[in-house]
Amino acid sequence: MNEYDSDRIRNALNLETTTHPEKADIVIINTCSIRQKADQKALSSIGKFKHLKARKPEMIIGIAGCVAQLYGDKLLDKIPHLDLVLGPRSIPRLPTIISQIEKEKRRCVETSLDVEEVFEIEPYHEEGKVTAFVSVQQGCNKKCTYCIVPYVRGNEINRPTTKILSEIGNLVIKGVKEVTLIGQTVNSWRDNGYKFSDLLRKVAELEGLERIRFTTSYPRDVTKRMIDSMRDTRKVCRHIHLPVQSGSNKILSLMKRTYTKEWYLDTVNKLRDSIPDIAISTDIIVGFPGETEEDFENTIKLLNEAEFNNIFSFKFSQRPGTPASEFCEKENVSETDANRRLSRLQELQREITFRKNQLNVGSTQEVLVEGEGRSNSNWIYGRNTYNQIVHFPGSAPLKGVVAKVKITEGLQNSLRGELLNKN
Ligand code: 5AD
Repeated sequence: MNEYDSDRIRNALNLETTTHPEKADIVIINTCSIRQKADQKALSSIGKFKHLKARKPEMIIGIAGCVAQLYGDKLLDKIPHLDLVLGPRSIPRLPTIISQIEKEKRRCVETSLDVEEVFEIEPYHEEGKVTAFVSVQQGCNKKCTYCIVPYVRGNEINRPTTKILSEIGNLVIKGVKEVTLIGQTVNSWRDNGYKFSDLLRKVAELEGLERIRFTTSYPRDVTKRMIDSMRDTRKVCRHIHLPVQSGSNKILSLMKRTYTKEWYLDTVNKLRDSIPDIAISTDIIVGFPGETEEDFENTIKLLNEAEFNNIFSFKFSQRPGTPASEFCEKENVSETDANRRLSRLQELQREITFRKNQLNVGSTQEVLVEGEGRSNSNWIYGRNTYNQIVHFPGSAPLKGVVAKVKITEGLQNSLRGELLNKN
C-alpha cells in the first residue's frame, strides 16, 4: 500500500527523480504508522534533510502518509525545516498544494479524510516492469482493537469497477502481466451489487493479463462465492494472505477479530478442499495485552495445525488512540516474554516453511519472469503461482514470459530450478 502511494506521489509531482537529495527541489517522505518502529524511523529520516534545507531554503520538504495523518500540524512545531504534512487521502491534491507553498511561501497541512478524489492519481509505473499493484479500496471499517489504520486512512471506500478495469487495461498496454489488487480488507470490496468474487472474474476477462493476486484478505469475508471464483479463474494465483493474528480465542475476542480459531481453521479447510494446492500465508501478533503462556501455546498449536506456507509476525505495538493501547496499563506483556515468544514462533515457522519449500522439488511450475538475478546476470527470477520466488539460469529476453521451470532445490526463502521451455 505504501509503495503504491509513493508511486502515486511520484506521478502527482511529475518531476524527474534524483538519488542525490542535495539536487532535489522537493523531498517527500512517505511514512507508515502501523507499528511504533516504523513511525520512529519515519520521523528520524526527516531529520536527515535538516542540513540540506539550511543550505537550500527554497527546497520543499514534506512528510506524507500515515505518520503525517497521525500527528498532523504538531509535526510543523516539532520539525522547523518541514514545509508540508500530507495525509494519505490527500495525494491527489499534491500538485495544487505544492504550487500554493511555492506561491504563498507558507507551510501547509492537509489531513482531511473527507476527500472526494481519493483514487484520482494513478501510480508511476517503471518501464518494462511486468507486475503492478492496483488499489481497489482505501481505508478500513473493521476496527480491530490494536490497529491504527481506520484512524489514519479513514473508513473503507471502494473504487468503482470501471476505474479499476481501466487502470489495469492501461497497465496491460504497458506490458504488465500480473496485477495485485490491494486493499486493507480487499475481499470486502463491493460496488453496486458487485462483490469481490465478481471483480476477480471481471479482471480475469482482460486480455493480455496473465495473473491476478490480491492482498490483504479479511477472514470473515472469505465466502463460498469468493473461493469458487478463485477456483474457477485460471488467472487467479493459488495463494491467499489471510491474517489470523492469534490462535487464542480469548485474544481474538480482545482484538475484535470477529472469528474463533475453529472458524478460521474451517475456512482454511474450505479453501484447501476447493483448491488443494493453495498456498496460505498469515500475520501473527505476539504479546498482545493479556496474552498468557497458555494463549501463546494456542498460537503455536495453530501454526502446527494450519501449516502456513509463510508468516509475518510482529510484537504488539501500542498505537495512540486505539482501544488496545489502553489495555496495556493493566495487562502488559513484558518485553522479554514478547521477544521470547516471537523467536519461538519464528523458529517453528522457519522449519515449516523450509519443509514445505522442499516439497516443491521435482515439480514443474509456471514462473512469471520478473528480471535478472542481482548477483548473477546469467540467472533470472520470478514467482510461481504460490508467490514463492524461483531463481533459475536464463537470460533477460524471458522477462514477462510465463516459463515452465523444473524445481531442483527448496531453500528457506526461495526455490531454484531449471528452465524446461518457453510457454
Ligand atoms: N502491533 C503489532 N502488529 C500490528 N499489526 C497491525 N497493528 C499492529 C500493532 N499495533 C500487524 C497485523 C497486521 C499487519 C499488517 O500488521 O498483524 O495484519
